[in-house]
Amino acid sequence: MPARYVPQETKEFITPFGPLIGYYQMPEAFHRELNNRISSDLRDHGGNLVGKVREEKLFDEPLKELAAQYLGPLLIEYHARALTRGGFGGYNHRTKRYGLDIVDAWYVRQYENEYNPLHIHMNCALSCVGYLSLPDGIEEEWEQDQKAGHPTHGHLQFAHGTDTQYSVSNFTVRPKVGDFWIFPSSMFHCVYPYKTPGERRSFSMNCMISEENIG
Ligand SMILES: [Fe+2]
Repeated sequence: MPARYVPQETKEFITPFGPLIGYYQMPEAFHRELNNRISSDLRDHGGNLVGKVREEKLFDEPLKELAAQYLGPLLIEYHARALTRGGFGGYNHRTKRYGLDIVDAWYVRQYENEYNPLHIHMNCALSCVGYLSLPDGIEEEWEQDQKAGHPTHGHLQFAHGTDTQYSVSNFTVRPKVGDFWIFPSSMFHCVYPYKTPGERRSFSMNCMISEENIG
């Protein structure tokens, strides 16, 4: 988006500022592999996290490499798009070479009545979450939750800024196996509890993107 936006159509409605959110449907081969590789041998990460959930296991190096292979180009694209938008016309991704550093990555194994309080992620620039499995029957709970209004059970919610008449300050995501979301690590978010017995499994990553000028 250039500094002075010139509409291209006779009518347009735009949201040119605020946090950038990325969405992607992960290849099935990738999220199946992540599910297969979860193991009790992985190091526990729960002591470093705010989640009130049963288990959070750190990715080992081979898991990080697998994630970088499948998600690296997308994470770099998110970074380049965000900087282009905020660069006032002075940022050119074609003159850069990018590097991806997955600072931390971990599985989140959440069960009924567990939750993740409002928090941000530290020591990184961007964070992301991908969904690996959901409890059988949670759709019925969601149907009831929807009827009650303001559905949140087992949902991820982002918060940014303050609601005003023409500005929205939160964004809620209903998890779906295979869905992947990217967001600024400094953005507050939380995950609500649910009642359906069973595991809601996801993974999160904290990343830094480095840049080198090549042109
Ligand atoms: Fe988080």
